[in-house]
Amino acid sequence: MNITVIGSGAMGCLFGGLLAEAGANVYLLDIWKEHVKSLNELGVSITSNGQQRYIPVQATIDPAEISSTDLALVFVKHAQTSKAAATAAGLIGRHGAILTLQNGMGNAEILATAVGEGQVICGTTAQGAMLLGPGKIQHSGTGKTSIGMWEGATHPLLGDVATMFNDAAIDTTITTEIKPVLWRKLFANVGINAITALTGIRNGELVDLAETENLVRLVVKEALEVAKAYQIPVEPDALEHVFTIARATATNRSSMGQDIDAGRLTEIDAINGYIVRLARAHGIKTPINQTLCALIKTLESHQQ
Ligand code: PAF
Repeated sequence: MNITVIGSGAMGCLFGGLLAEAGANVYLLDIWKEHVKSLNELGVSITSNGQQRYIPVQATIDPAEISSTDLALVFVKHAQTSKAAATAAGLIGRHGAILTLQNGMGNAEILATAVGEGQVICGTTAQGAMLLGPGKIQHSGTGKTSIGMWEGATHPLLGDVATMFNDAAIDTTITTEIKPVLWRKLFANVGINAITALTGIRNGELVDLAETENLVRLVVKEALEVAKAYQIPVEPDALEHVFTIARATATNRSSMGQDIDAGRLTEIDAINGYIVRLARAHGIKTPINQTLCALIKTLESHQQ
């Protein structure tokens, strides 16, 4: 299968690298020239459990260099999804598919406006990765990946994508009900990302102090109330699952933490901001999510 990864940061490199290692024909697309140069010259460097390996990949900053793509795997940040949608639509034509495993809500809707309804596959992953430098990442957490159609009938590539991911040791299942799965991941991002970004800690450190753990509980409980108001099916262990993810990715700095550390804009609007907007429309109060949004936005506006 010909795969183009659009947005080849930590997660894009992890998936692209593992898929290339398993035999897929992978092109990594990114705007960071030094990173792309290193990927072409050395391959993607993945450090996992203290072991480093290089996996040969092709990389480019120019989508025009990529000829045929069956699957566009979108890993850009939420704010770049519209641009990625246009690029993906140009690459996959009428028969390919887009898969988004991005954090936050609203990405599948944006992608679906650029292609046909049945061409968007979406899902979540509990894999974690950190960018160490140009061409180099650390694989900092493993866990399940779930994928399913956003809307419309099953795409012919859906099964092939799951098989290919599993062949690449990315433990993947297909689900017919993807929306509750997206919400389950949203709860984790609501509880983990902003707090780790603001405090500088790693995911596993969220449980070191009772006060921090309690803050995670409070912010996720607000999101659970919003989900209930919108009649989203929620598993009974949804809150505890947030801590399971934090522990499974203990050494990881959350993606929002990495964004703040690197002086980039974050995905706060698609995570805690999404909860605040939905809550407001239903007259629900979410003061903790609101506070975390305000603090992250304050940080964003003061970084160069
Ligand atoms: O955004 C992230 O960093 C990840 O989604 C997760 C699962 C919280 C692990 O760091």
